[in-house]
Amino acid sequence: MNTQIAISMLAADFLRLEDDVRFVNSHADIFHLDIMDGIFVPNISYGFPVVDAIASIATRPLDAHLMIVSPENYVERFAKSGADMLSFHLNATDDPEKVVDLIHANGMKAGIAINPDIPVEKLFPYLGKCEFALIMSVFAGFGGQKFIEDTYPRIETLKTEIVRQGLGCLIEVDGGVSGKNSAALKSAGADILVSGSAVLKSADPSAAVQAMR
Ligand code: DX5
Ligand code: ZN
Repeated sequence: MNTQIAISMLAADFLRLEDDVRFVNSHADIFHLDIMDGIFVPNISYGFPVVDAIASIATRPLDAHLMIVSPENYVERFAKSGADMLSFHLNATDDPEKVVDLIHANGMKAGIAINPDIPVEKLFPYLGKCEFALIMSVFAGFGGQKFIEDTYPRIETLKTEIVRQGLGCLIEVDGGVSGKNSAALKSAGADILVSGSAVLKSADPSAAVQAMR
């Protein structure tokens, strides 16, 4: 399977949101929607009015990345908004398996996310249940941060385990991703590359996506 490009709408121009949504429809593969609650992460992004507006004209799958406490409380609501993929952070809930089951029961693909300071081994017990694992290559909370180089060996370790267990779990990498690191991320084993600033804040967004492909 080819690497998929997901665009983080956190980097969109919210005064011209429609233009950026149409850009993703025609140039990328997935909408990555960063949902922050100001508690799990020290920032607040956007909520359902924005998600629903994007959903109303999106022709690509919606991938909601929940950076919120008690994600289980919002699983059904994101399904209602049309999310196709839903991820939450491993340490944001007491019972990750239960949240994964709930995501599946609501007809979405489930992913578990971890920040750069959480050993990837912590994800191993859940890989068989998830359609994807979200490896943060910056600390969740803000767009436009610098890519953390230690992400490569983390992806390699995770990939080795997915192959060892014979699973179909995809690896999504998120934070500071651009054409500068995309090739190395792919060879490390990444299946989905999330990029915000490097694409939507670039002078030539199409070229920026092309550079990542
Ligand atoms: C960080 C978010 C990322 C971020 C990616 O908390 O999860 O998705 O918006 O944006 P860039 O590509 O600007 O790092
Ligand atoms: Zn994200």
